[in-house]
Amino acid sequence: MKLFIDTANVEEIKEINSWGVIEGVTTNPSLIAKEGRDFVEVVKEITSIVDGPISAEVISLNSDEMVKEALELSKIHSNIVIKIPMTSEGLKAVKELSKKGIKTNVTLVFSANQALLAAKAGATYVSPFVGRLDDIGHEGSHLISEIAQIFDIHGIDTQIISASIRNPQHVISSAIAGAHIATIPYNVFKQMLNHPLTDSGIERFLKDWESVPK
Ligand code: E4P
Repeated sequence: MKLFIDTANVEEIKEINSWGVIEGVTTNPSLIAKEGRDFVEVVKEITSIVDGPISAEVISLNSDEMVKEALELSKIHSNIVIKIPMTSEGLKAVKELSKKGIKTNVTLVFSANQALLAAKAGATYVSPFVGRLDDIGHEGSHLISEIAQIFDIHGIDTQIISASIRNPQHVISSAIAGAHIATIPYNVFKQMLNHPLTDSGIERFLKDWESVPK
């Protein structure tokens, strides 16, 4: 399973990218809004940091408008993936864009049928939202597992990005359920890294090292 970072904050991206563990970035309108910067400028800067798929989302709800936006966003860099909401207009746009060879990430996926429709329309990626399903009392990782099984049985090559990850356990359950990618927020990367036994272990090794004759 590949790891992407789910943020539009370039400092966060630079820090986690320096660990050598991320292969792509996902953004969304809410994450962009948090930065208070020009959308295109932020996305361009992200493409200069990470050499991998960078998802940038369209705002229009009409397919023709989505395609227009997508064509503009695609000019930023060859790594741009167009994030499209899971609607009938979105599916039409995905079909058009896939004919033009433009990669898409269908977002706000909450059921296996939505994932299947997105894949049929030609989506490169689908993004099922694990955390938001858990928030309403469903089992987000169960959805990942259903989609993974369906794609596997039917030889569908659309990649599953496990999204809306809220904690390290979501990363583990997404990996076990068969997600191809997990897109992870900065704070969850930090939680994945740290363990109190690692810290106390380092402290003990360094303390013991003091008694080694020099
Ligand atoms: C997916 O690509 C979205 O950017 C993201 O994972 C949404 O997460 P949230 O539910 O925490 O907003």
